[in-house]
Amino acid sequence: MSALTTSSDGFLLHGEPFRIISGALHYFRVHPDQWSDRLRKARLMGLNAVETYLPWNLHEPEPGTLVLDGLLDLPRFLRLAQAEGLHVLLRPGPYICAEWDDGGLPAWLVSDPDIRLRTSDPRFTDAFDRYLDQLLPPLSPYLAANGGPVIAVQVENEYGAYGDDTAYLKHVEQALRSRGVDELLFTCDQANAKHLAAGGLPGTLSTGTFGGRIDEHLAALRAHQSEGPLMCAEFWIGWFDHWGGPHHVRPAEQAAADLDRLLSAGASVNIYMFHGGTNFGFTNGANHHHTYAPTVTSYDYDAPLTESGDPGPKYHAFREVIARHAPVPAEPAPAPSRKLPPTEVRLERRAALLPYLRTLEPAVRTQDPVTMAELGVHGGHVLYRTSVPASGDGLLRFAGGVGDRAQVFVDGAPVGVLERERHDETLPVRVPEPGAVIEVLVENQGGVNYGPRIGASKGLLGPVSFQGVALHGWECRPVPTGDLGAVPFTASDAATDSVPAFHQGTFEVESPADTFLALPGWTKGHAWINGFHLGRYWNRGPQGTLYVPGPVLRPGTNELVLLELHATTGTRARLTDTPDLGPENS
Ligand code: GLA
Repeated sequence: MSALTTSSDGFLLHGEPFRIISGALHYFRVHPDQWSDRLRKARLMGLNAVETYLPWNLHEPEPGTLVLDGLLDLPRFLRLAQAEGLHVLLRPGPYICAEWDDGGLPAWLVSDPDIRLRTSDPRFTDAFDRYLDQLLPPLSPYLAANGGPVIAVQVENEYGAYGDDTAYLKHVEQALRSRGVDELLFTCDQANAKHLAAGGLPGTLSTGTFGGRIDEHLAALRAHQSEGPLMCAEFWIGWFDHWGGPHHVRPAEQAAADLDRLLSAGASVNIYMFHGGTNFGFTNGANHHHTYAPTVTSYDYDAPLTESGDPGPKYHAFREVIARHAPVPAEPAPAPSRKLPPTEVRLERRAALLPYLRTLEPAVRTQDPVTMAELGVHGGHVLYRTSVPASGDGLLRFAGGVGDRAQVFVDGAPVGVLERERHDETLPVRVPEPGAVIEVLVENQGGVNYGPRIGASKGLLGPVSFQGVALHGWECRPVPTGDLGAVPFTASDAATDSVPAFHQGTFEVESPADTFLALPGWTKGHAWINGFHLGRYWNRGPQGTLYVPGPVLRPGTNELVLLELHATTGTRARLTDTPDLGPENS
């Protein structure tokens, strides 16, 4: 019997009336050494629960391989939550949306062109079942029935916005139940009649996702479900950003007033996000509504706790609101953390990318270019290379476009960029002589996480032609960004003579603390500190700094590596004490 049950108008925990006041905190977006700090701050704001998704794509990077350590050590996160006295709501998917690469579906799964994702297609459900076979035994001690903090588990995610295959939802529910998940199960959907009907599962609690118009959305939930608790499973208090767009903020007073409305109506809530964190590495997702739009590295979300874990205006406003409805710890609200003193980093060693990649063997050789998935590559970049039999001015045509951003080089010199975001398919180029080498460096900017384009292919998507004649005989090489130890850095003054290139520098730290990496004069690329991949930077903005978690630094000498994809006037980077998330929406 589950610890959490429902009555005609609310929740009961161990038989006693209970209201969930939860906040979203994705462990995989926060450095593990900061989990306990963030959880403590959740409790101090007055939350009695935290909610997290589980990213299937990271937990099972290859079929049959379960990863549950480091940033993915969910058992540790659950122990820390319990130690803090917090209950936990788990959202294991399969699909999680969350502005996360391919909505959390593994690359090896979505690359099957015939699979029907998020349906009863056995190719999809069998894969999920096999994942649960591995995932659930180590999580089972953390279910409330076994003395752990997990009191509820979500089935799928906003399924009503995607499909209406109720048999599939039933399958996910049974997959959890048959493997010993006896806790309360719930679905969540955008709170309108259509989505709630398509995404609901008879006998399972329906919850809503919304950020405003509280009375209207609660009424829609009540109309769909005549009794039981009213719960906003994602109370959107901020929003995420796309490259090239504004930084989204939402006034604290307005969000606090809506939280008050929700709690005054007797509803339960999960604040999305309580603490957003960061899309480290290659983990960000993208939207594609007419146009492809990748999500930025920061997932600050204008949440109560900022990306660096400091209480912002919403933290204090929400704490006050919660105190009107439930007990809030008497301890004082947390203060902002200490930041590293501003530090300059000189990047004095370089390695040109293309010559380095050309040395990597074996290359995959194909007649026509193949996608990243066909190369078994996901996340990051692939370099495609061939020679052109003709010469002169002409159009280089990429049939089907590029996934997602392609930099073109003729005999090693940059000649242009194609972007999926702009629907580019052609580039005018001048080929100096027959036999000139064309290289195309293609970046996967993040898998679409919402709607029908989840799992869309990356890399070169079809044949490439010059002056109407197909180019054959390609060499394809992934850019090895997992191990930077092999990059052949040499000392060099001029940042400009190698484009694109890795750049490396060191800096001294006395006492590690959070900091923000600013890259004035740099264009677009990736940053690593001591091998930890902070994520993408791009002068397109809005974000102008990358968050550097304090635990990534060490006392003494630290190393910064950039992979700069374009020209740079910079030979320096700055570590600052203030984040710059860019111009705000008005
Ligand atoms: C929906 C999804 C979440 C997230 C939010 C927007 O509610 O369920 O995963 O994508 O939208 O941030």
